[in-house]
Amino acid sequence: MATTPVVDIHTHIYPTTYLTLLRSRTKVPYLLDLPDKMAPPRLIILPSDDDPALPAHQRGRPIDSSYSSINQKLDFMKTHGITTSVISLANPWLDFLSPEEGPQWAAKVNNELEDICSTSQNSLYAFATLPLSASSSRITGEIHRLQSLAHMRGIILGTTGLSQGLDDPALEPVWSALESAKLLIFLHPHYGLPSSVYGPRASEYGHVLPLSLGFPMETTIAFTRMWLSGVFDRHPKLKVLIAHAGGTVPFLSGRINSCVQHERHFPENEGGGRGPKRGLKEVLRENVWLDAVVYSPTGVRAAVEVVGKDRVLFGTDHPFFPPLDEGKEEWMSVETNIQAVKDAFGEDKQGATKVLGGNAIELLGLDVAGDG
Ligand code: URA
Ligand code: ZN
Repeated sequence: MATTPVVDIHTHIYPTTYLTLLRSRTKVPYLLDLPDKMAPPRLIILPSDDDPALPAHQRGRPIDSSYSSINQKLDFMKTHGITTSVISLANPWLDFLSPEEGPQWAAKVNNELEDICSTSQNSLYAFATLPLSASSSRITGEIHRLQSLAHMRGIILGTTGLSQGLDDPALEPVWSALESAKLLIFLHPHYGLPSSVYGPRASEYGHVLPLSLGFPMETTIAFTRMWLSGVFDRHPKLKVLIAHAGGTVPFLSGRINSCVQHERHFPENEGGGRGPKRGLKEVLRENVWLDAVVYSPTGVRAAVEVVGKDRVLFGTDHPFFPPLDEGKEEWMSVETNIQAVKDAFGEDKQGATKVLGGNAIELLGLDVAGDG
């Protein structure tokens, strides 16, 4: 029986190359093997994880085989009816490497991703990673090289850019290279907000505050800085997919726009000429795609309202947010997101089908089995 393709554009992996790199390190981020060989190693991913007062098995996060096994990724896809996945390296990517180390590791990781995809009978594609600590010519060199890797459909990018954020003028050659290579930028958070905003009781709530609020605010601020600094004026063909349904961009776009219109610092409001030329509404409709990793129909509807129903794409964030009951095959996080898309579209079954797969196939030129 023919099936309707379901495409997951937000799904991560720590390939073997990357785990080797993390194991070789003793500073954050690094991988800590435990004396109990049966226990998964711990990923010390944030400075707050690196707490010597805690026993090793309580530091950071457990990184079991679901973070690196392709067979487990394929099994997960089968369980949830996902036809095709566009895999990306999980945070914190290569942000922490020295300028000399970055390019060789980027090439190794990207080559491994390409190898994985090329043996997957078109069920896997990838977003590559960039050596952002290196010189801009080395970064653009990797962008050009990616065009020779058949399964690359874009790059995953954190919010710090070359270290100064995404409104940094030094990023201009990188934006130009991505624009001319027609590679989608998958904008994804990692750093969250300063831990002081979570207050002295933060540890009582585990990762709830940083993941539910810190991540989306981080992405919102990064994208807004890109827009404010005129990146989309200078690069009108740049394509950005914002993680987690745009953070809070759909909800706050009116307020962001209004603040710009009332800001005397932008002289064009008083007849001068600074600030973004292309309005936020236009950029959201022409340069931006949003994933549907938002766990509610309200969030999906907001995303659809600001970018349009052809520009919202299903994702899972696998292998993050697994069921707490380890014996369970179906993931609540995935089922919630599928249901949210269906509920948001109601009777418009075709709209839901496009968000679940059709939009990604068209945007990324995926060769996918099924009848659409
Ligand atoms: N999702 C991610 O992609 N990264 C995290 O660190 C946590 C959730
Ligand atoms: Zn993610």
